[in-house]
Amino acid sequence: MKLSSFIGDFQTKETPFYFYDIALLQQTIDKVKESVQIDNAHIHYALKANVDPYLLRLIKEAGFGADCVSGNEVRKAIEVGFDPKDIVFAGVGKTDKEIAYALSENIFSFNVESIEELYVLNELAGREQKIAQFALRINPLVDAGTHEYITTGTRDNKFGVTIDELWGALDQINELKHLHFIGIHFHIGSQITDLNTFVSLSAKVNELQARLVESGYELPHINVGGGLGIDYENPDENEMADFESYFSIFKTHLKLLPGQQLHFELGRSIVGQCGSLISRVLYTKKGSDTTFMILDAGMTELIRPALYKAKHKVDILSGSSLTQTYDVVGPICESSDTFAKGVTLPEAKRGDMVAIRSAGAYGQVMANQYNLRELPKAYYSSDV
Ligand code: LLP
Repeated sequence: MKLSSFIGDFQTKETPFYFYDIALLQQTIDKVKESVQIDNAHIHYALKANVDPYLLRLIKEAGFGADCVSGNEVRKAIEVGFDPKDIVFAGVGKTDKEIAYALSENIFSFNVESIEELYVLNELAGREQKIAQFALRINPLVDAGTHEYITTGTRDNKFGVTIDELWGALDQINELKHLHFIGIHFHIGSQITDLNTFVSLSAKVNELQARLVESGYELPHINVGGGLGIDYENPDENEMADFESYFSIFKTHLKLLPGQQLHFELGRSIVGQCGSLISRVLYTKKGSDTTFMILDAGMTELIRPALYKAKHKVDILSGSSLTQTYDVVGPICESSDTFAKGVTLPEAKRGDMVAIRSAGAYGQVMANQYNLRELPKAYYSSDV
């Protein structure tokens, strides 16, 4: 459905707000399920992308598990009904309190990111007389070719342990009596659009798996993380990521052991396209070299452009036939509070509604109250 066709129903709402197209989310979920076509595959939704309870409920009802990176995300997942047996918990800096909580909920697996963390997990599990299942997150040194702030598998990244470190620690791991080593975990970055990156990842996984098998480790689980990108430039033409190609790469290239379970942690590709940030034009003005369109939404509601120079399509929902080139900016006292520079759009005037597209992932969850602004509300297409 075109955004402009139901946005009329929201004319009276105070802007800015997030708007979620629930039908598109459902179609995306269905597409993921239909495209997997791999035996023993499990999808864990990465909560960090969006924790809106309505969206979470639909995702949970699809039978997906949850990928969490904080104790509060684990709590939220359980609150909305995800089974702890489907929850994985990653993060380079899990606190003792977070680990103890996740242990008390008997989650499926900790994605452990350092050897020191293993010792802490072992000790905390021991106190509760539990055996904690864990996968070790490996930094495979595969460059995801994405923005430097969202790449996680290169030499300078803080995530996971190196293969050398794993090798050095294998004997110690066996000594940790309150742990059960169930798998290896990888996540090399986000907004990956060159799918060959996942071919390279599969090769690294195979190489490591072969070495592990040679050393007597046949681990029951492989987790390849998330990272599949979406089309920010053409959200209407490409409403969904290319899930078929993505899954088929792993199906073709990964050499799984008999019965081995394969886990994915998808965030952006599930919720990214269903969300838009809806705003109104407050003012327009001529600058020295450009015309500014000043919105009532800014980097407080959607920080991605300011933080990663991310580009989101800007749609004017009123539709004048004249056009004008604008720098589309927010109201915050920072020059990085800019959504788009030099874009040609239908001429807009004070009060016109504007949609900033593809904002369903890492949008609302990263909103903040800088300048003492209010956090944005959310509305859903099914409210119409
Ligand atoms: N698994 C792990 C261990 C992760 O760190 C992430 C994302 C995911 C899965 C999900 O990745 P996805 O499928 O969503 O790409 N705020 C940034 C993105 C940060 C991604 C952090 N990790 C942005 O707005 O682009």
